[in-house]
Amino acid sequence: MTKTRKKLIHLIVGARPNFMKMAPLYKQLKKENEIFEPVLIHTGQHYDERMSKLFFVDLGMPEPSAYLDVGSGTHGAQTARIIQRYEEHILSRIKPHLVIVAGDVNSTIACALVAKKLHIPVAHLEAGLRSFDEKMPEEINRVLTDRISDLLLTPSRDADENLLKEGVDPQKIHFVGNIMIDSLIEHKEKAKESQILTRFDIKEAEPYALVTLHRPSNVDEKEGLIMLLDAFAEIGKQNKLIFPMHPRTKNNIQRYLLSDKLKQIPNLHISEPIGYLDFMKLQMDAKLILTDSGGIQEESTYFGVPCLTLRKNTERPITIWEGTNKLVSLDSKSIVEQVYLVLQGEVAKGKIPQYWDGNTAQRITALIRDWFEAESDV
Ligand code: UD1
Repeated sequence: MTKTRKKLIHLIVGARPNFMKMAPLYKQLKKENEIFEPVLIHTGQHYDERMSKLFFVDLGMPEPSAYLDVGSGTHGAQTARIIQRYEEHILSRIKPHLVIVAGDVNSTIACALVAKKLHIPVAHLEAGLRSFDEKMPEEINRVLTDRISDLLLTPSRDADENLLKEGVDPQKIHFVGNIMIDSLIEHKEKAKESQILTRFDIKEAEPYALVTLHRPSNVDEKEGLIMLLDAFAEIGKQNKLIFPMHPRTKNNIQRYLLSDKLKQIPNLHISEPIGYLDFMKLQMDAKLILTDSGGIQEESTYFGVPCLTLRKNTERPITIWEGTNKLVSLDSKSIVEQVYLVLQGEVAKGKIPQYWDGNTAQRITALIRDWFEAESDV
């Protein structure tokens, strides 16, 4: 490769689901350190020890080179702070050759926008996913990030099709696979040794359902939260429920004075947010998972664990077509019915989708190398 200096690459992380996507790519780029200089930039969108630091430790990532400390706020305030601070950061230092953003959080679009306006190419990891629901902030972040990205790195073929239908230049689209699965494969043996089950007093082979909830559409309105707690109360009559609670959900339960209602749910075990390895262990051993997360739909498909997604739609339909995922109507009767169907053995067998194989970071690194080479030939 003809080069004057190493290719400086910013890898942006901000919120919990970014860390397991960037860790394998950071490590892979670092292996080729005669060509690349990868640098981790943390916006600080998630800042609690249990939402951020713990993941760096579990994933074996170094401290980020820069921490922008943006914290929480309304979408406008948070996004604006990220834009302002990341722009200041770039302008006060050497300009990177490429900025890589992941997923669909506010840090993703904010940093993509800054880079693009400074004429720095942008690569989007997990491009092309669509829920077609513009009420979700993530959908807006995805569509806009894809629109301005130069390299669209997709996790599954349906994402390529979405982008092609939107008129994206096919040369920008690269089906590289699911990078989150790289992290999962790298860490799953270690996760098996986690002692988290004893913390929840779960005996060997004892069945339990794992629950996570954090979507604004599920937890920001009182009625919706009550409906979900009613469903859990019914399911809890006969099943153990493990529920590591997201701060958004915890705050809203307190705000709507639902703490007593929560405490009355039988067999419900609530905890603070849980680290990467412990949570992987909880997923692997669960009888079933109830979630509104994006990443957990994918991880449960990999593990072959039945997943009931508490949402009207999913941007990850491949987990339904090929995996173990199912959408459930958002009323307590349907949720309870679906849970009992799964417990009676009515579950899709599922298979692991193409390129969810642990080699996505390698494919991306090779692609970026070729892309820089082609650029320098122009
Ligand atoms: C964000 C992402 C969402 C992702 C989720 C994973 C956006 C628009 N949303 O949602 O796509 O699925 O992360 O967790 O980017 N809080 C804390 N400690 C923290 C972080 C947040 O207590 O470390 C609380 C604050 O009260 C904050 C609230 O959680 O206001 C929501 O945080 P925020 O980053 O705005 O969105 P998430 O719901 O976490």
